[in-house]
Amino acid sequence: MNSANSENIANGYVQMSKISTRLAAIEPSATLAVTQKTGELRAKGIDVIGFSAGEPDFATPQHIIEAAKAALDAGATRYTPAAGTVALKRAVAAQNERVRKISTSDEQVIICTGAKHVLYNFFMAVLDVGDEVLIPSPFYVSYPDQVRLAGGIPVMVPTFAHDNWVMDPSLLEKAVTSRSKVLLLNSPSNPTGGLYNRDQMKAVVDKAISLGLYVISDEIYRDLVYDDHEFVSAMYSPDVDMSRIFIVDGVSKTYAMTGWRIGWGIGDPEIVAAMTKIQGQAITNPTAISQEAALAAVEGPLDFLPGWKQQYQARRDAFVAGLNAIDGMECKMPPGAFYVFPDVTQILPKMAPGSTDIDFAKWLLENANVAVVPGTPFGAPGYIRLAYATSMELIIEGLSRMTIACRKL
Ligand SMILES: Cc1ncc(COP(=O)(O)O)c(C=O)c1O
Repeated sequence: MNSANSENIANGYVQMSKISTRLAAIEPSATLAVTQKTGELRAKGIDVIGFSAGEPDFATPQHIIEAAKAALDAGATRYTPAAGTVALKRAVAAQNERVRKISTSDEQVIICTGAKHVLYNFFMAVLDVGDEVLIPSPFYVSYPDQVRLAGGIPVMVPTFAHDNWVMDPSLLEKAVTSRSKVLLLNSPSNPTGGLYNRDQMKAVVDKAISLGLYVISDEIYRDLVYDDHEFVSAMYSPDVDMSRIFIVDGVSKTYAMTGWRIGWGIGDPEIVAAMTKIQGQAITNPTAISQEAALAAVEGPLDFLPGWKQQYQARRDAFVAGLNAIDGMECKMPPGAFYVFPDVTQILPKMAPGSTDIDFAKWLLENANVAVVPGTPFGAPGYIRLAYATSMELIIEGLSRMTIACRKL
């Protein structure tokens, strides 16, 4: 430090706060907060049933674990290219051709440390300070804060339960300003479980492109759709303008690989190159051994999935029936993901006038020993989110506890 600097500091001219101003508007993750509170109560010996974590309760399939072990023995312990190994990028490109029927090259693929990291790299790559990102509300809790961290401004576009949480393109148009740059889609959705059908996806994507927006589509739940519903990607046809659509995907949900931290982005090579630059400076590369595990997942059989989906669907059905039987709760049947999202507005006044979903979630934790996430941090006051990526026994027991507790209101 030169003497002028130290003099200025001594005189109080330079006052630096410890934490950057960039972080001032950022919230800690609400779902992680509930999970943490659940852990604290459990540590005190209280038997809490947790419906807060969005994480499959199944173990990673054995063939993936074996492939990872073999890769370790074969020396997959070194740096890899920043955007991921060529083998994994090729496997992801080939999977994209199978799933979305879009011919895909290596340069259109980047491997990152989880789907969340893909989103973060994307926003860092495309947003200038003040650029707006349109986000259908309710939304995954991390979206607005990621946009803010990258200097952007999240702008919420409302969606409604009576539209099955699918965005009306005319509301998108209404929300657009001269600073709007990106539309962020998420189908199937966390927290609502909502799903866009082909016509709805086409209408929204076409409208966004006609408004000059880029579309980033978080498709991490694409394999988890139930009944006779069909997943439709934002890349819904080879005829759409591929330079305007960016896909977020990964192994976390489909293959029960949340802790391996591998996700990928697929889109415009220029955006992929920009994200690779950021990634190279920030983390060098995603973990070598996890990329080998992800390669085994993407190239391997999906024979475990129908059984898992059957279980998810049965749990969902039990949850929806049980929640609707509680006086004052209203729960629609979600077509995808692994969340139910009941409307609890009729129950709230029974607690005390002016009570919120946040009060209700706290009340459930204390009075039913059941952990749920309030809707407010997802942009949906009056709702709660419960994950059914947990056993049927715990769902039945949790429903029974909630039913008994809510009778006292
Ligand atoms: C909609 C959505 N996107 C992204 C993620 C994060 O995925 P990953 O664990 O691969 O980072 C989640 C996790 O809950 C999610 O629900």
